[in-house]
Amino acid sequence: MADTDKSATLTIDGASYDLPILSPTAGPDVLDIRKLYGQAGVFTYDPGFTSTASCESTITFIDGVKGELLHRGYPIDQLAGKSHYLEVCFLLLYGNLPTAAELEKFEDTVTRHTMLHEQMYNFFRGFRRDAHPMAIMTGVVGAMSAFYHDSTDITDPHQREVASIRLIAKMPTIAAMAYKYSIGQPFVYPRNDLDYSSNFLNMCFSVPAEDYVVNPILARAMDRIFTLHADHEQNASTSTVRLASSSGANPFACIAAGIACLWGPAHGGANQACLEMLKEIGSVDRIPEFIARAKDKNDPFRLMGFGHRVYKNFDPRATVMKQSADEVLELLGVENNPILAVAKELEQQALADPYFAEKKLFPNVDFYSGVILEAMGFPTSMFTPIFALSRTVGWISQWKEQLGDPGMKIGRPRQLYNGESLRDYSDIENR
Ligand code: SDX
Repeated sequence: MADTDKSATLTIDGASYDLPILSPTAGPDVLDIRKLYGQAGVFTYDPGFTSTASCESTITFIDGVKGELLHRGYPIDQLAGKSHYLEVCFLLLYGNLPTAAELEKFEDTVTRHTMLHEQMYNFFRGFRRDAHPMAIMTGVVGAMSAFYHDSTDITDPHQREVASIRLIAKMPTIAAMAYKYSIGQPFVYPRNDLDYSSNFLNMCFSVPAEDYVVNPILARAMDRIFTLHADHEQNASTSTVRLASSSGANPFACIAAGIACLWGPAHGGANQACLEMLKEIGSVDRIPEFIARAKDKNDPFRLMGFGHRVYKNFDPRATVMKQSADEVLELLGVENNPILAVAKELEQQALADPYFAEKKLFPNVDFYSGVILEAMGFPTSMFTPIFALSRTVGWISQWKEQLGDPGMKIGRPRQLYNGESLRDYSDIENR
């Protein structure tokens, strides 16, 4: 971040305050208000953080107007087309693309951390079979701080590294176990001879009763979904992880907080909600009815998978995801999938509607991912756990970056108070 000699002058009741302007590598200039309250005795007010930079970061950048998403400077379409998830994990964690030797060592390290402490299998068995997998993941990941005491000391760089690898490595195992538990099938252990995405599909879909061979094209599609969800600046769940981490909480507790936040239908839960919406629409002739509901101010219904706080023209991830949807469904021989047909027609009709154009609403990352995941055999309840699995590297990278900032302070926002003024307690007989 470049300090500039530029500043803004704020005048309140005749007094003037100079606020420094900071110029980033990319994106809008930033008004530094860190000393505002101390100097002027006023707060700023921005409850949805629509105009607020909560931190300084070097990991991911989004240009919402151009529809650009960069991870350490590399555009997402290039990474999705030429890289793979574990290489993107290395990039997000350490800042540069790995050499061949670095990548081999990193992938081997992750592979050797995919097993879960055997006693955690008992933990799983305490849940109801019909528990939502996100409830299980929130609980199990938080409980990792009860099993991996040797990687909870955030002041120890080595322990931070071990915790990072453990979380990236074990999330597929935990997500797959949550799925197996929900369908009453036995857990499948990870295998070191399979790549990350193939291993996840094998843990989800293989059964002891017969051999299971992972389809390499589905593994590639799974890997691309992981890559497209890896990190996304200071979204709600990443901001939750940063805020939790600012108190010094251990990494497993912080990531569990991120999983909990991601679950919401306005955020990561949108992929499940979107597919359920597409199924409710059911056929293209019912699309106008749902578009009308989405536009009706008196109807809380929103088109799930549409809109974004930052992207105002298109979500580059959705573009890649739509291509993948066509490839996967053709491979599976379900290119005539009625849900995909509804999704494509809904996109066309919404994008042609002035309401969505004016409000800059268009498909986001969650719009097509559910179509692919369902075609691959996942129930809708597994969509957000897969998003959480993918985003763990983003949460962890941002967590490590914040802990490495010597200027880190505990996050403690203030408020605009409009409650009662001071008043004395009244005894119950006087009320
Ligand atoms: C993710 O932040 C991230 O980066 C998140 C994410 C990531 O990778 O981490 O990209 C992942 O969460 C993607 C978003 C998934 N959510 C959904 O698909 C749910 C549906 N979308 C909306 O809930 C909404 O668009 C948000 C939450 C995504 C963005 O909300 P904003 O930026 O706060 O916008 P808003 O709610 O203020 O809406 C602006 C206007 C409103 O109308 P007015 O009050 O101005 O008249 O647009 C309308 C909204 O009513 N609007 C929609 C709409 N989304 C916004 N109208 C119909 N359908 C929608 N989907």
